[in-house]
Amino acid sequence: MTTINFNEPAQNLSTLQYIEDVFTQKHTSGDGKYTKLCHKWFADKLSCEQTLLVHSGTAALEVAAILADLKPGDEVIMPSYTFCSTANAFVLQGAVPVFVDIRPDTLNIDETKIEAAITSKTKTIVPVHYAGVACEMDNIMDIAKRHHLLVIEDAAQAFDSFYKSKPLGTIGNMGCFSFHETKNVMSGEGGLFVTNDSTLAERAEIIREKGTNRSKFFRGQIDKYTWVDKGSSYLPSDIIAAYLYSILEISDQIQQKRRAVWHKYYSAFESLEKSGAIRRPIIPNNTTNNAHMFYLLFNDLETRTKFIAYLRKNNIQAPFHYIPLHSAPAGKKYCKTSGSLDVTNRISDTLVRLPLFFDISEQEIDTVINKCLEFWSKK
Ligand SMILES: Cc1ncc(COP(=O)(O)O)c(C=O)c1O
Repeated sequence: MTTINFNEPAQNLSTLQYIEDVFTQKHTSGDGKYTKLCHKWFADKLSCEQTLLVHSGTAALEVAAILADLKPGDEVIMPSYTFCSTANAFVLQGAVPVFVDIRPDTLNIDETKIEAAITSKTKTIVPVHYAGVACEMDNIMDIAKRHHLLVIEDAAQAFDSFYKSKPLGTIGNMGCFSFHETKNVMSGEGGLFVTNDSTLAERAEIIREKGTNRSKFFRGQIDKYTWVDKGSSYLPSDIIAAYLYSILEISDQIQQKRRAVWHKYYSAFESLEKSGAIRRPIIPNNTTNNAHMFYLLFNDLETRTKFIAYLRKNNIQAPFHYIPLHSAPAGKKYCKTSGSLDVTNRISDTLVRLPLFFDISEQEIDTVINKCLEFWSKK
């Protein structure tokens, strides 16, 4: 029996053709033909002043963290239930991530707990749109406005998802997307930084290009370029952009397929939820579902461990995540917590993700569903 992978990267008929074209263009470094095509695609889709391809979601967060102009010891409020890059980007700037608990329904940062975490050192809030489902952005923007804080959206998982019709990643001061191969649209590794603030937009371009004004030089706006600010090399090769552009061309099909798989899983586990065995994802009315992830929530760690082992024995990959950042060695060293993190700890022990990717077959989905139900029937 072949393994049903948790994830497989998508490919389009045009993928290799575009990559070959990069060599025809004789421009394999950054900001070539395909980077420009991707920039235009995202500028149209997100209606954003600045859309900059970077080499990862991590890099997008690092650009944002540099732009936040943090001093050592400044505090950044975020959830602990997230990927380490959300915190790491700020730790690299000498700032201190402060973790608050998540909501039990969406698993997003609990906006009602943010104000209690604000101190005179707080500079930024980082909402993470977990599974592509929106955080309560109206409340978060209101808190940020009243306390003069920046909002940096970790929209790594939020491609093609909206809060009250606004694209996620474009509501705060800055937004950061990931195109890692596990995301809805991907380029192997890859990311996007976006902002609608013209001052941040100009500086972001410089930070991405090793702290130089080379982009202005290439546009013919200055006659030589030089080192003008902090920065690093955050731009991807045009080979990566060519892969991404070929995937953007089929993004509607990808989204349609992912939503169909998500809904098939959702319906299949309705009776299990009714019996109290598991809980399915909850999508509030004010947010869309980009079908980035389908997960099940168990009642305890022991049952989840047995369930994952049962699927593995049946050649189905079903991972869990995250080890909460506050309990990770680096989290203990560099970060602080605010209030209880009970929901975070519970979700970390009880969540399982099911296989969900563009090329998954109907037969594979049926096998996953049947094996999941079989686990419960044998219990
Ligand atoms: C919430 C979150 N933030 C940041 C990242 C980092 O993105 P990347 O892997 O592209 O560096 C990820 C990727 O998994 C993520 O899920």
